[in-house]
Amino acid sequence: MILRCIECRKEYSINEARYKCDCGDLLEVVHPLEVLKKKLSRKLFDERLTRKDFPYNSGVWRYKELILDVDDKFIISKPEGNTNLYKAEKVGEYAGLKEILLKHEGENPTASFKDRGMTCGISAAKMLGFKRVACASTGNTSASMASYASMAGMESIVFIPEGKIAFGKLAQALAYGAKTLQIKGDFDDAMQLVQEVCEELKIYLLNSVNPFRIEGQKAIGFEILQQLGWQVPHWIVLPGGNLGNNTALSKGIKELYEIGIIGKVPKIAVIQAHGANPLYRMWKNETSFKPVKAETIATAVKIGNPVSWKKSIRGIEWSRGVVEEVTDQEIMDAKAVVDASGIGAEPASCCSVAGVRKLVRAGIINKDEKVVAILTGNLLKDPDAVVNYHLGKLKGIKSNYANKPIQIEADLEAVRRVLE
Ligand code: F0G
Repeated sequence: MILRCIECRKEYSINEARYKCDCGDLLEVVHPLEVLKKKLSRKLFDERLTRKDFPYNSGVWRYKELILDVDDKFIISKPEGNTNLYKAEKVGEYAGLKEILLKHEGENPTASFKDRGMTCGISAAKMLGFKRVACASTGNTSASMASYASMAGMESIVFIPEGKIAFGKLAQALAYGAKTLQIKGDFDDAMQLVQEVCEELKIYLLNSVNPFRIEGQKAIGFEILQQLGWQVPHWIVLPGGNLGNNTALSKGIKELYEIGIIGKVPKIAVIQAHGANPLYRMWKNETSFKPVKAETIATAVKIGNPVSWKKSIRGIEWSRGVVEEVTDQEIMDAKAVVDASGIGAEPASCCSVAGVRKLVRAGIINKDEKVVAILTGNLLKDPDAVVNYHLGKLKGIKSNYANKPIQIEADLEAVRRVLE
């Protein structure tokens, strides 16, 4: 295992705490795939699926050799992953598909997909001997980091945009004991600042510029494929913000393909919120990357200058995938349908379902194709968005699927009137 620059290909040891190459570009972990080809198989991973012991009971560390092949003594696991893949008929109908599968990453220990990357990132921090870790976050990364850092006995410092993160996430960072710095600025300002701070104060940076975060995150894709009996779906669709998750998805799938565990590649569709869509603009207009000033109700993806754009676009192209955008209205309508199906997810998560609907209507996804949409965070992360939607109080959003509470007198007659 080594770290390698994605552009100039300069190599570094994984025992060096580094996020970028001397040339300024991003680094990625390179695994010895030729060696792993002989060692890894579907059968090995399937056998591990039955194990109850640490670390193979984790839906990340089950694939350890492709994640971070370190001594178990460094691993901090809650354990994460093992999330459900739901067949959701109503959601499929809404999206215009025969069937849709929803991979619910809100079922992770801190209720978002971030736990997969974080278990790997915090284990790397332990391996490298750090006692302090930091991240900038729209909320989920900070919730996850705060929890894993506390379990590892490390101090955590989070940088969040002032007044712009969902309540459930802020509550988690405070509760798990993170030093929580609300900066006067947006996520992109926080991201800039935390990189400087980590460099100067020798704190370990746990945003997805950290190559080990990407390694752990790959396990969503591994687990989806294993749950499907290693049968490859036509599409995997997911939201895009800082663009770490889709970078990880394509990297992991490429590795599985290269070692022969799968023989086909799913197309990856990345869905951005219209108000935070720099990757979409670049894709659509075939221009160079330009940051935007972000604004969307899906605060988790309110990001205008995503750090992993270059890795992300390469992975999407490799999978022959697409980038799409959806409006806040489309996100909240899709969310209402996902929620009412009994599954539920936070607003940003529902970019994926809204995006599938749009891509089906555009004829890019065929209605007979097998589609997995990733739900990245739990419904309860952002209760304000839910309640205000159903009360019709979201500015600029029509509550097309509202389920308003009904106020009545406390007597049987009043109940009868409402129910009949
Ligand atoms: N969905 C949710 C619920 C998120 O929290 C995020 C990112 C994304 C999607 C986008 O994933 O950044 O890998 O493209 N949240 C980060 C955070 C930025 O700080 O919690 P991405």
